[in-house]
Amino acid sequence: MISKPTIQKIIDEARVEDVVGEFVTLKRRGSNLLGLCPFHNEKTPSFNVNPARNIYKCFGCGKAGGPLQFLMDYQQMTYPDALRYLAKKYNIEIEETRDETDQKEQIEKQNLTESILIANTRAQKFFTDYMMNNEAGGIGLAYFKERGFIDKTIEKFQLGYAPDAGSLLTQTMLKEGFQLDILKKAGLTSPKEGSTYDFFRNRVMFPIHNMTGKVVAYGGRIMVKDEKAPKYVNTAESEVYQKSKILYGAFFAKNEIRKKDECLLVEGYTDVISLHQSGIENAVSSSGTSLTPDQIRLVKRITPNITMLYDGDAAGIKAALRGTDLILEEGMNVRVVILPAPEDPDSYVRKVGAEAFQKYIQENKKDLILFKTSLFATEAKADPIKKAELIRDIVDSIAKIPDAIQRSVYVKESSQLFDMSEQILITEVNKARRKKQGELQKEEEKQQQRESPVKDELSAAAHKAQTIENPSNLPVLEHDIIRILLEFGSWKTQDNETEISVVQYVLEELEGLDIETPRYKVIFDLIKRDFADGVVHDEGFFSANDDEQIRNLAIDILTQPYTLSENWWVKYKVAIAEKKDRFVKDIHSTIIRFKQFKNIVELRKIEKLLKEPKDEADLQRLMRLHVLLMEQKKEFARTIGNVVYRPNT
Ligand code: CTP
Ligand code: MN
Repeated sequence: MISKPTIQKIIDEARVEDVVGEFVTLKRRGSNLLGLCPFHNEKTPSFNVNPARNIYKCFGCGKAGGPLQFLMDYQQMTYPDALRYLAKKYNIEIEETRDETDQKEQIEKQNLTESILIANTRAQKFFTDYMMNNEAGGIGLAYFKERGFIDKTIEKFQLGYAPDAGSLLTQTMLKEGFQLDILKKAGLTSPKEGSTYDFFRNRVMFPIHNMTGKVVAYGGRIMVKDEKAPKYVNTAESEVYQKSKILYGAFFAKNEIRKKDECLLVEGYTDVISLHQSGIENAVSSSGTSLTPDQIRLVKRITPNITMLYDGDAAGIKAALRGTDLILEEGMNVRVVILPAPEDPDSYVRKVGAEAFQKYIQENKKDLILFKTSLFATEAKADPIKKAELIRDIVDSIAKIPDAIQRSVYVKESSQLFDMSEQILITEVNKARRKKQGELQKEEEKQQQRESPVKDELSAAAHKAQTIENPSNLPVLEHDIIRILLEFGSWKTQDNETEISVVQYVLEELEGLDIETPRYKVIFDLIKRDFADGVVHDEGFFSANDDEQIRNLAIDILTQPYTLSENWWVKYKVAIAEKKDRFVKDIHSTIIRFKQFKNIVELRKIEKLLKEPKDEADLQRLMRLHVLLMEQKKEFARTIGNVVYRPNT
C-alpha cells in the first residue's frame, strides 16, 4: 500500500491543468481554462479547469473533481492506480507501507473495489492454471484449440476454464484468505445466501478487462450445444463492472485504434479474439448487449471513426441499425459492413485470412445512407410507399448528426441517390431537428436540475424570494455560510487584536445556531468536529475529499459562478472579484444576514404565540422575548447599514 505521506505529497504536487491537459485541449479563459467536456458530447465548451483551486467542473454535465478524480473517472483507474500514475508523472518516489506479511490482513485493509479486483485477478490465474495444468481442465484447452486459438492468443486474453467440481475456486480462495462476501460481490461465488458454490462451472472463461487491463468480470461459454443451458453466463454488475460502460477487448485494442484512427465493432468475444489473432487488432465488442452511449464515448476518446461488422442475419442487421443512429448522435462517423451470411467475423477471418478480410471490409464499407438504402433497395424501388418510408428513416438519422457540415454532406448524397431536391431534404432534416431539440432541451433541463442542486436551489430561491423569512431563503444563506467556510476557513482574520482562523470566527459567531439544510449540515458538522480536534482544513481538503457527496458539493459551491445577474441576492452580495480585500466584509455580511434570518423567523414565531398566550406568566415571558428580538433586529439592520434588505417584489 502507498503510505499516507506519499499520498499527501502526490495530492500536493498534482496539477489539475497538467493532468486534464494531457487528454483535453484547453484554452485560457481569464484565470481559468476551458475545453470540450470529455464526459459528455458538446459543441460549445463548458468544461472548466480552475488551476488556482486545482479542480475541474463541467457546467454542462456536472462532472467535477481534482487530478485524481479525473484519472479515476476518465481513465477508469482505481485510486491506487491513479496515485501511481501521478507519482510517475511528477517523479515522486512511492513509499510503501511495510507490514504486508499477512495476506489476509492486507485484503481486509483494501477497500471494496480493490478487493474485488484482486479476487478477479486471482480467479483468472486459477482458471488459466486449471486449464493448462490440470488434467480435468484439458477439455477447456482442447475447446479453444479446436476453435483455432493459438497459445499466444490464449495467454494474451488470459482465457481459462472453470472446473465442473462445484466449489473448487471458492474453497481455494477462501483458504487463501479471501472473504466469502468479496467472492460473492465479485460474482465468482453463487450469490445465494449461505452458498459456497462457484458461479461458473464447466465453462471456458473469457475474462473481461477494463481500460487499464484489470479483470472486472467474466463471460463463461458452454462447450457443448445445449438447448436448455445458456450459451454464455456473464458476471452480474458489480462495483467494478458496469456492462454498459465496458467494451470487450478495448484494453488490447486501444493503441491500434488510435494508430488506425478507426475502431472495428463486432458482436462477440470470439470475434474480437479471432480478429486480434489474425493481426486485426483494432476490434472491440459490446458483448451481446446492444451498444450504449457510454460505450460509444469510450471509443470517441480515441477515434471518431467506428466501423460496425455484423452478421448478415436479421438479428445482426437489426443490431447494426440500432447502433448507427446512436453513433451519429455522438457526432461520430459510422460505417457498416455486413458479412456474407452465415459468417460472423470470427468464422470469416478464419476462412479467408486477414488480408482478404481487410479487403472485404474496405470494399463493403457503407455509410449509413448507403447501408440503409441497400437494405431496402429492392423493396423500395418497386413500392413508392416503402421508398417514402426509407427516406423518412434516413432523414431522421441525418437529423441526429450534430455537425452541420456532415449533415449537409449526407443530404447531398441522399438527394443524388433518391433523385430528390436537396432543398426538400434540408427542410425535412431541419424539421426533424427542431422536434428533437425541443425534446432534448426538456431532457437537459431535467438533467441540470438533477446535477446541480446548489445552483437549482439558488435560482429557485432567487425567484421565490418574497420576504427575508421566506423558508426558501434559508438554503441560500446556509450555502453562503458554507461557501465562506470552504473558501476562507483556513485564512486568518483579526478579532480584537488577536489573529484567529476564519473557521474559529464563524463558529464562534454562530454559536447556538444550527445549519438545517442536510447537505450543508454534513459539511458544517465535519468542520465543527475537526475544529474541536484542532484541525482547520483548506479548500483543497474538501474538493479532493474521499466522500463523493462532500467533494461534489464543495466543488459545486467553489465553482458557482457569481453571475446569476438580476437575482435579488446577488445585488447586495459583496463582489467576489476582489475577494482578498473584501473577504472580511463578505464574511461579516454573510453572518449578519444569516443571523438576521434566524432572528426574524424567531420573531414571527413569538408573534404567533403572543396571539394565544397560555396564561399571564407566558404572556410576560413572550413579551420580554419579543422586545429582545426586536432590539436584535434593529441592531442587525443598523450593522448591515445601507444594505437593509429590500426585496424587489
Ligand atoms: N452472448 C451472451 N449470452 C448469450 C449469447 C451471446 O452474453 N447467451 C453475447 C456474448 O458476449 C457473445 C455475443 O453475445 O460473445 C455474441 O453472441 P454469439 O455470436 O452467439 O457468440 P460468440 O461469442 O460469437 O460465440 P461462438 O462463436 O462461440 O458461438
Ligand atoms: Mn461466433
